Amino acid sequence: MSMTMIEIERALRELRLSGIRATLDTRILQAQANQEPFLDTFSMVLQDELDRRRSSLMERRYHKSGLDERATLTDFDWHFNPKLPRQACFELHTLKFIAEGQNALIIGKPGTGKSHIAKAVAYQATLQGHDVRYLEADSIFARYALGSGADQERQLRPLLNADLVVLDDLFLARRISDSAGELLQTLIHQRYKLRRSIVVTSNRVVQDWGKYLGDNTMATTILDRLMHRSHLLEFEGKSYRLKEAATRLAQNPSVN
Ligand SMILES: Nc1ncnc2c1ncn2[C@@H]1O[C@H](COP(=O)(O)OP(=O)(O)OP(=O)(O)O)[C@@H](O)[C@H]1O
Ligand SMILES: [Mg+2]
Repeated sequence: MSMTMIEIERALRELRLSGIRATLDTRILQAQANQEPFLDTFSMVLQDELDRRRSSLMERRYHKSGLDERATLTDFDWHFNPKLPRQACFELHTLKFIAEGQNALIIGKPGTGKSHIAKAVAYQATLQGHDVRYLEADSIFARYALGSGADQERQLRPLLNADLVVLDDLFLARRISDSAGELLQTLIHQRYKLRRSIVVTSNRVVQDWGKYLGDNTMATTILDRLMHRSHLLEFEGKSYRLKEAATRLAQNPSVN
């Protein structure tokens, strides 16, 4: 005996087949209108479920990553700063460095697109099925400093396990606190051992990093591991932020 539509609905809910549930009415109409063979309809219905699952998995991965925008390389204007290492950016975007457990340091002038590129790479990694954690350096340092020992353990675990960690705007405030230094040390040492990639962006030149890290031996061991198996991308040029602000000002002088 065939089921009523209400019973089918209930069964799909029970089986958690939300992709089929969302399109079933349309697929029934389509099958009737086209007098489709059963297998054609059935494969379309299955495909709807697969599509729904894939996109909700991607959505979950994106939210878990902590990214605040879906940056891409498509919306990046390579003509604005022609000296940017374009090939190296595309190379990173292939994500081979993740498979090979390499790091990337994106260093250079403010507003030149370092964070944009790091976010685009991180977003691409979520689309390709990687577990990604995007962190603004100062806010993870502050959160970590506030936690007790057990909280800190809890915060650290996903950062060690993720396939890719992005540490954005490192050393924005130059010197970092002792607890930030500890976090950085554990993160970099452990991920190095596990051969898991880190992407760091900073507008401070690498030569000064040792100074900002304070304790000399700690600085050396951190930098050593970070730089080994690492791609260095230098971003020279004008600030896109200033260009955008100037455009806004020209369009509407009362704002800004
Ligand atoms: N070449 C570009 N094409 C399009 N958008 C750009 C370009 N460069 C930067 N932007 C945009 O300008 C803004 C500032 O860029 P971003 O935050 O990536 O700079 P940054 O190098 O990380 O700067 P900071 O060192 O201050 O952190 C962002 O909104 C980014 O999307
Ligand atoms: Mg930045």
